[in-house]
Amino acid sequence: MKSKILVTGGAGYIGSHTAVALATAGYEPVLVDNFVNSSKSVLEGLKQILQAEPTFYEADCTDKQQMEAIFKKEGNIRGVIHFAAYKAVGESVAEPIKYYQNNLGSLLVLLELMEQYGVAELVFSSSCTVYGQPDELPVTEQSPTKPANSPYGRTKQMCEDILRDAVASGRKLKTVALRYFNPVGAHPSGLIGELPNGVPNNLIPFVTQTAAGLREKITVFGDDYNTSDGTCIRDYIHVLDLADAHIKTFEYLRDRSENSFYDVVNVGTGQGNSVLEVIQTFEEVSGKPLNYQLGPRRPGDVEQVWADVAKANNVLNWKTQHSLKDALKDAWRWQQNLVKTE
Ligand code: NAD
Ligand code: WQD
Repeated sequence: MKSKILVTGGAGYIGSHTAVALATAGYEPVLVDNFVNSSKSVLEGLKQILQAEPTFYEADCTDKQQMEAIFKKEGNIRGVIHFAAYKAVGESVAEPIKYYQNNLGSLLVLLELMEQYGVAELVFSSSCTVYGQPDELPVTEQSPTKPANSPYGRTKQMCEDILRDAVASGRKLKTVALRYFNPVGAHPSGLIGELPNGVPNNLIPFVTQTAAGLREKITVFGDDYNTSDGTCIRDYIHVLDLADAHIKTFEYLRDRSENSFYDVVNVGTGQGNSVLEVIQTFEEVSGKPLNYQLGPRRPGDVEQVWADVAKANNVLNWKTQHSLKDALKDAWRWQQNLVKTE
């Protein structure tokens, strides 16, 4: 029988790609989402990719009753990946309580139910945002976390603390917080991808929407940073590689003999690219010149961050398979399909 993995936020950007990776690896993904930041059309894309209807529940992860009904109905859940959260940094500054309620509340409900139903394995979506601007690059898991510069970032730090404390209490819980760097790209089928709500906050959707003519131009936020070309540097990881890291994490957890176990692992490529490099690479793979302008810095941006991925390579036995070019090609295909179907 296939092992069931409960995937909260399963209709979201990373969750949907991970659902495909899980199914491909022989797991049965059980998806939960309340569509607060996703669309039902994702399920249609998944169905086409998987050639089967995914198991899906529309539910709010902060609602214990709704979530308990799923644990009861599904019975033997093997592990959980907790993606469901709000993720817009700026919005979290304006509406912090909403962020604490959803991001902490959903984790607490899951932890209660996992204990109640004897589910021990949990992969948690954390973020490189916990490092702030690191003193040394690349950033390793031993690098100190910095005071978060947004309530969103603080929810990730607090969730990591909650997991660390839960494990320290000796309860039966094996969990890894994966610190994602900047996920980009889409499934190569063009059937699922990133679906931002309204004006995108993130670079790649802004780039592809501009190239598609949905936005007039893109502003590069700051060209006076202390970097090779003056623009910020990030570690952009293909969402397919990120999805795969979750599968490897379950294998890692399974190999641990401890009953209570907590770890953090960076998931990036190990390479930094500047905003201008991303734009140039996009122009190259799409064959389209991008209308961009250099503008002022965006408040709160860190100058440069990229991951040391030795731990992911060694303990998860995971390596990236896709380049930035692949990711931008896939993101562009996805954007073009979206425009066609609108
Ligand atoms: P996303 O918004 O596309 O996916 C999250 C999904 O969770 C959405 O489908 C949303 O509808 C759902 N959701 C939110 N609250 C819910 C609730 N209470 N009940 C049920 N469903 C709920 O975001 P994503 O980019 O796929 O991110 C997934 C996770 O990874 C998040 O925890 C995010 O903080 C984390 N993360 C994302 C990035 C990034 O840049 N995308 C980087 C680092 C970490
Ligand atoms: C990337 C680079 C911008 C848009 C955010 C969160 C972080 C994590 C990942 C969840 C930056 C520049 C962007 C634009 C630009 N998420 N940019 N023009 O800021 O690295 O990280 O998503 O955990 O917590 O903060 O990602 O895609 O917004 O920006 O010049 O229109 O692109 O300044 O240098 P960021 P991003």
